[in-house]
Amino acid sequence: MNPQTAEKLKDLKGVLRSDFYHGYATAATQVEGAWNVDGKGESIWDKFAHTPGKVKDGSTPDDAVLSYYKTKEDVALMRSYGVTGYRFSLSWTRIVPLGGKDDPVNEKGIEYYNGLIDELLANGITPFVTLFHWDIPQALEDRYGGMLDKDAYTPDFVRYAGVCFERFGDRVKHWITYNEPGVYTLAGYAAGVHAPARSSNRKLNEEGDSSTEPFIVGHTELVSHAYAVKLYREKYQPEQKGTIGITLHGNFSLPWDANDSLDVEAAQRALEFEIAWYADPVHKTGDYPASMRAQLGDRLPTFTPEESKLVLGSSDFYGMNSYTTFFVRHLKTPPHIDDHSGNVEKLDTNSEGVSRGPASDTYWLRTAPGGFRLLLNWIWKRYGVPIYITENGTTAKGETEPSESVLDDKFRIEFFEGYIESIGRAVKEDGVDIRSYFAWTFTDNWEWAAGYSDRFGVTFVDFESKEKKRYPKKSATVIKELFQLMIKPK
Ligand code: GAL
Repeated sequence: MNPQTAEKLKDLKGVLRSDFYHGYATAATQVEGAWNVDGKGESIWDKFAHTPGKVKDGSTPDDAVLSYYKTKEDVALMRSYGVTGYRFSLSWTRIVPLGGKDDPVNEKGIEYYNGLIDELLANGITPFVTLFHWDIPQALEDRYGGMLDKDAYTPDFVRYAGVCFERFGDRVKHWITYNEPGVYTLAGYAAGVHAPARSSNRKLNEEGDSSTEPFIVGHTELVSHAYAVKLYREKYQPEQKGTIGITLHGNFSLPWDANDSLDVEAAQRALEFEIAWYADPVHKTGDYPASMRAQLGDRLPTFTPEESKLVLGSSDFYGMNSYTTFFVRHLKTPPHIDDHSGNVEKLDTNSEGVSRGPASDTYWLRTAPGGFRLLLNWIWKRYGVPIYITENGTTAKGETEPSESVLDDKFRIEFFEGYIESIGRAVKEDGVDIRSYFAWTFTDNWEWAAGYSDRFGVTFVDFESKEKKRYPKKSATVIKELFQLMIKPK
């Protein structure tokens, strides 16, 4: 950390709880590779990436960053970064290759994750495990349309979750059922740019209906999440004593014109469509927000009384992924049938020409630490449960080779300094209860439909090299120092 930053942050010394977890988050598809090795089945992302034209650089996650073969090396590197936790996801098709409740378990898959979990624990790193980070088995998609069929899908997901609790729950005490159910539905079923590639846009997708399917799939995610939590709480939690919850995406929204009440309302509505869509049913009311019902009517599914009861309170914490902030302006025309944002426009500058932040190498992402602090407050005030920050990070322009200047990643360092300071201030000055921070991400990886082009890692990966060689960037050291300063010693 440079002396100016140290001076600026000195009042944040020891403001985070002594049991605060910090580390990195990853997802199986993005890092493991070994896509068809040791009995792993095909996921919708394997199929998507092998379909020409779907991924920006034409790449596949076949090898990703080969983390499947690098458990010891990666855990050692993580340890050198000073982490106390590691959030990773399990590949459903490595564990149950065909996915269904009566389909066989693949012992080789179990063995791989046992090895990873044991290696982490041996190095003093606590595993945070996500059951679903977007990679549903292709076989379930083919059998009954995946999450479009809630009744067929739910028992399959719950059985998969049960296998994981049973086999790993003696050592895994932090479970996350779904990663960002909202991005899964919006990118996969509304925009159609992610697997399973469905939308109303016939130029892009052969099938789908952007005006209904995202809400149906979102509903399936919430209900199946709640049934998996019920299973954990009834059968495993009493003995295993772990926690379980769901991780939601959400960026902050500020009014484009703070003096226009319609923009102020629009910003609030945007937050409800993006975040409260999932968070209200789980953490507040057991139902969708009124603003969504008003715009969407019957296109938004209804919870049965039993579902509502199960969903409400089904997360022991608020799992929060957030990256940026937008300016939001109300639209004067009635909502489009395919609108999912609350009839608003999202802009890079406000009515006074102020920018939402410096641009990264990813079109939607700009550095906006002030909005992050406001969002932490918004979530805390509305839901009042402890917040686990499970993802946050950035790309930076021009990271094409592991040169000295690329590894001294100033843009990313500034991003992390700003956001981590916001966490400290939210805790110290606003009284928000925050328990973890997982940066996105440990190494550069396969960034879904952007392929290998968007580098989010604090470790540079030479994708050209056969062994996907890793080179630490300076941001890894800065994050370590920030938490050394801010976490209260035990
Ligand atoms: C999140 C997602 C991650 C990663 C990140 C950066 O939405 O959970 O897998 O892709 O965005 O784009």
